[in-house]
Amino acid sequence: MSSPVTPLIRPDELRLLKEYITGAFGLVLDRNNEGLLTKKLLPRLEGLGLATLADYYAYLKFAPRRKDEHKLLLSLVTNNETYFFREEPQLRVLSEVVLPALKEKKLKCGERKLRIVSAGCSSGEEVYTLAMLVIESGCFLWDWDVEIRGIDIDPQIIDRAKNGVYTGRAFQATPTHYIDRYFNKCNEGLKVKDILTRITNFTEGNILEVEQIIEGQSVDIVFCRNVLIYFDDDSIQRGVHGFANVLLPDGHLFLGHSESLSRITSNYIPVRFPGAIIYKKRD
Ligand SMILES: C[S@@+](CC[C@H](N)C(=O)[O-])C[C@H]1O[C@@H](n2cnc3c(N)ncnc32)[C@H](O)[C@@H]1O
Repeated sequence: MSSPVTPLIRPDELRLLKEYITGAFGLVLDRNNEGLLTKKLLPRLEGLGLATLADYYAYLKFAPRRKDEHKLLLSLVTNNETYFFREEPQLRVLSEVVLPALKEKKLKCGERKLRIVSAGCSSGEEVYTLAMLVIESGCFLWDWDVEIRGIDIDPQIIDRAKNGVYTGRAFQATPTHYIDRYFNKCNEGLKVKDILTRITNFTEGNILEVEQIIEGQSVDIVFCRNVLIYFDDDSIQRGVHGFANVLLPDGHLFLGHSESLSRITSNYIPVRFPGAIIYKKRD
């Protein structure tokens, strides 16, 4: 019987793999992620019986099952941490300021359509949170055409988002009345009700290609929170330019609280609120 392979992760080969990930998926893994990346890759190489990252690189490029491996690799390298009602001060700005102003503006021009994109939506908690807030705002009921679309590059996480079943930590910041109103108990946990699935959908894709993904539609608001921290400046620039191209005039961009555009682009005007900054598209 052959002894199991103990794979070797060499820094130059790790660099090669990181370049491959950036080229193939647009994801930039900075130096701080290398330890974690190595920890995640070792069992995968072991499982495939590969001795080095160079072997894995060749596997990704040439193996007959390379497409499946790409999906698996994406799941390994992305950080999917998320939960309902994350970063509440921003959500309050959405509910109390942005949505009412949008409704007023739209009614003036006789339009009854609302489009929101959650770019880097992970397992869907952000999308369903936005759906709950839109419904609770009371601004877009009855004959409004509302769509909140989640986009994520990780196909496994998109399947989980579509499934809409959640447990434990996902609810760490969720006020109880939202659980009672918008979830049904099921064997695996709590499942989102139809009232949420009716106005939400999920697409697998790279947010650096947002214009192609949403196929020429315009959107009112883009949420892209806790995603750009994993990008280098060039990719952030590309991403937020793409958002500016799909946002309607006066459209809003919500980033995570540790993400800032000040160094990156002048396409947006920062608007400050207590505990939250949001970005308005510049005309
Ligand atoms: C940390 S989660 C953030 C989820 C949610 N926005 C939040 O703030 O709770 C980051 C997500 O971004 C996704 N992601 C990273 N790069 C991406 C890209 N280029 N295109 C689409 N999704 C991406 C990851 O797969 C991951 O699910």
